[in-house]
Amino acid sequence: MIYARIAGTGSYLPGEPVSNDDLVKRGIDTSDEWIVSRSGIRSRHLAAADTGASDLARVAAERAIEAAGCEAEDIDLIIVATSTPDYIFPSTAALVQSKLGIRNGGAAFDVQAVCSGFIYALSVAEKFIRSGSNKRALVIGAEVFSRILDWSDRGTCVLFGDGAGAVVLEASERPGILASALHADGSHHPILCVPGTVASGQVIGDPFLRMDGQAVFKFAVKVLGDVANEVLDAAGVQASSVDWLIPHQANIRIIQATAKRLGVPMERVVTTLDHHGNTSAASIPLALDEAVRAGRLRPGHRIVVEGVGGGFTWGAALIDF
Ligand code: COA
Repeated sequence: MIYARIAGTGSYLPGEPVSNDDLVKRGIDTSDEWIVSRSGIRSRHLAAADTGASDLARVAAERAIEAAGCEAEDIDLIIVATSTPDYIFPSTAALVQSKLGIRNGGAAFDVQAVCSGFIYALSVAEKFIRSGSNKRALVIGAEVFSRILDWSDRGTCVLFGDGAGAVVLEASERPGILASALHADGSHHPILCVPGTVASGQVIGDPFLRMDGQAVFKFAVKVLGDVANEVLDAAGVQASSVDWLIPHQANIRIIQATAKRLGVPMERVVTTLDHHGNTSAASIPLALDEAVRAGRLRPGHRIVVEGVGGGFTWGAALIDF
């Protein structure tokens, strides 16, 4: 039997942290007290204008490859989860492959599932590996959400940031990913969307992120609890045997409500959003990598990763690390 295991992790946050007070200094009508009490976010990183998602992804990927003890040439599949690609095409994954110096490589493509994107990409990569068609995948979440924020909309712009996270997922005789589940319900698309596009050289519609915060909040808490239980049930595992819950890093209050529903104490929940905000598809691999590098998440630990985002999409995976 072939399984898929995480062999290495990496992440990258661009530039210096931008604090809540820095946003106030930039003229946004908000306060550190409001942002921290509503979201738990204290600072975020914003990529320079000439830096694309593929640049952030490249650094995170190089760190994951180094941690996995392999070479870029050993990678035979690259999947990038992003909603803020460098271009309409080619895919960000193809650009990352090029930036890593891989020539005549395996498949490289993007998945677009917004904040659930990393879980979608991980699950797709697992299926490629378990089928025997690929041996070593780079699964990356990379975003420059600062490009799609309306900086005059204080209800959204203070919540998001830029960054990337990556894992090397490789074939193994020992189980790594024990169960995964993906879901979508597109009827909820109006509550979190960027309802614009580019056509005939012009922006058509609205190119900025729009969100009904309270509707998103309620939806997220419900589906994150449900989907975590779904993967636990699929593997016949109790929540009490999970060492770490690593949820999408959007909002500390959503994370706390989800952990409570699952009966997982906050001491066993990885939270990193205070210093990078909501980095959409990058948030879960960012949190994962920070927990690994801090020595908190160690080989042999059992984890649940889970995400929810625009679409609406949501998903989870139960993993032996
Ligand atoms: N600074 C200061 N005040 C702000 C503000 C800001 N950045 N943004 C909004 N406000 C104000 C509003 O104008 C409103 O003022 P009013 O009562 O005078 O009209 C007040 O704060 C309350 O706004 P409201 O939208 O009701 O706040 P809320 O308690 O619902 O919190 C969110 C807003 C966005 C933090 C919350 O709904 C949330 O966390 N939603 C989920 C968001 C999320 O995680 N999305 C990504 C999921 S993938």
